[in-house]
Amino acid sequence: MPTHQIAMFSAKSYDERFLLQASVPAIQFICHEVTLNPSTAVMAEGFEIVSAFVNDDLSRETLGTLAEGGTRLIALRCAGYNQVDLSAAHALGISVVNVPAYSPYAVAEHTIALMLALSRKIPRAYNRVRDGNFSLDGLLGFDFYQKNVGIVGGGKIGLLVAERMRAFGCEVLVYEPVNSQYCVKKDFQVVDLKTLIQKSDIISLHCPLNSDTRYLVNHDSIASMKPGVMLINTSRGALMDTRALLDGLKSKQIGYLGIDVYEQEGSLFFEDHSLDIIQDDLFQRLLTFPNVLVTGHQAYFTQEAVQHIAETTVKNVLAYLNGERLSNRVGM
Ligand code: NAI
Repeated sequence: MPTHQIAMFSAKSYDERFLLQASVPAIQFICHEVTLNPSTAVMAEGFEIVSAFVNDDLSRETLGTLAEGGTRLIALRCAGYNQVDLSAAHALGISVVNVPAYSPYAVAEHTIALMLALSRKIPRAYNRVRDGNFSLDGLLGFDFYQKNVGIVGGGKIGLLVAERMRAFGCEVLVYEPVNSQYCVKKDFQVVDLKTLIQKSDIISLHCPLNSDTRYLVNHDSIASMKPGVMLINTSRGALMDTRALLDGLKSKQIGYLGIDVYEQEGSLFFEDHSLDIIQDDLFQRLLTFPNVLVTGHQAYFTQEAVQHIAETTVKNVLAYLNGERLSNRVGM
């Protein structure tokens, strides 16, 4: 088989390292650090296969340019595909494949890390001790034991978080509109979303972003939560309305907020902006609260997960080149 070159976008040095390890002689990765968007799509001219990541812009416009340049396969290196206009891809004759699960354990463990770091105020304690300040004022935490934890989306990650919170002695409530029977089989209490929102001390989001779930956390839902609730989002930024979060934090209705994703993260995350003047005032305001912890979409980022992403991407590409059925195809 001749060597096929694949144009990789949003490919950092760590991605390249794992891709090279997983690669086979039939394919060669041409890595670009830049994101894929309507202006960079021309860089893929002549590449039948293009690979992209979570914050790449695979809108109709980008896909149109890719199709004109001969692209026939988009190999996503992530699970979510909300960034792809799937109907445009279908109309243009471009197939889309993803990596359905890289390490749900990685995301579940990071979710728990955010919860614990917030409740026990670990970032503040770390800075204090390094400064020779051993005072405990302001570090008062709370036990997870016997607290109600609401899991929105009882899929792969949600149920791993649920199992781990059960091990802390929490009462776990799951809202799962599609596979509720599986959650019941796993001995979880399945409830409706309203009940989960009203009863939970900690609410963690693990559902996909779509038209039903966009702004699931909004002014109304926040108002019906327990005062002082802990909110965690390691799924997709637009599940939460940032303006409503800011109001909820200011009124103290939200007691803790831990997010690994942000609705406008595309222009910030995965890059070093430490010397830039960040223009996003909502994001900057979020960072001023002592009870907010933000990480930059790193929940997935473990050796095991990045290796699995690379291996699955290679498998997806080989299946396409060999004319096999694309088992990880998304959309039509
Ligand atoms: P999954 O597909 O296994 O589980 C999602 C669950 O949400 C499914 O059981 C589905 O039935 C349920 N669901 C669908 N519509 C819903 C609704 N309207 N309300 C509540 N639940 C609904 O997906 P997985 O692998 O557990 O991923 C969950 C989320 O985590 C995804 O949004 C994914 O994009 C995100 N993710 C984040 C990463 C990170 O690094 N921060 C890495 C990997 C995934």
